[in-house]
Amino acid sequence: ENTQNTSMLHYWSYFAKGIGYTLLITLIAVFFGVLLGAIFALGRLSKKKIFHYPSVWYIEFVRGTPLMIQVMFVYFGIGLLWNNIPAFFAGVVAVALNSAAYVAEIIRGGIDSVPNGQIEAARSLGMSKTDAMRTIVLPQAVKIIWPSLGNEFISLIKESSIVSIIGVTDLIYQLRAVQAATYRGVAPIAVAMVIYFILTFTLSRILNRAERKMQHD
Ligand code: ARG
Repeated sequence: ENTQNTSMLHYWSYFAKGIGYTLLITLIAVFFGVLLGAIFALGRLSKKKIFHYPSVWYIEFVRGTPLMIQVMFVYFGIGLLWNNIPAFFAGVVAVALNSAAYVAEIIRGGIDSVPNGQIEAARSLGMSKTDAMRTIVLPQAVKIIWPSLGNEFISLIKESSIVSIIGVTDLIYQLRAVQAATYRGVAPIAVAMVIYFILTFTLSRILNRAERKMQHD
């Protein structure tokens, strides 16, 4: 007699745990991704070669290789020096380092979008370079950068799913655990898929509202 409970509701705690890990990885990675990304953006914009070139190489290399292999590289690479490195830590590091490259390009694009004439005008009025940047360029750049950072946040909710390959217990990992426990192939996939959609859809609604508020003031 089969006494196995195969209702998806019965396994809600698996999915809840998965949501928790997925959101936690995303939040930490987006936070450090933005910090590091800002540094790489400034590096790439710098006229000093020692800042410019390493930033360009980093951004191009990270965007030119799959996040999947970066996750494996960080996990097994750091694992050579640090035995039993927690998969969660390696996953967060890899996703944050990946995001930094994408964020760097978002920030650079925002700063580049402010016409040069504005800096020249400010400079001709006697403003210093730093003051022109701070009071003229950045406030306009932020209006362009902010919505794209929101999109990056949403992307990472989905892209972070790849950390399941090193055993991080995120939503994808949990859906596999529920498959194994219930012998049901499709139902756990469908549940996780709907959960991902609810997460990204809710977040994009919240961000759109915040954005509209920002445009008004
Ligand atoms: N899935 C693609 C990859 O493996 C895109 C990664 C996107 N990363 C990001 N931070 N937006 O390269």
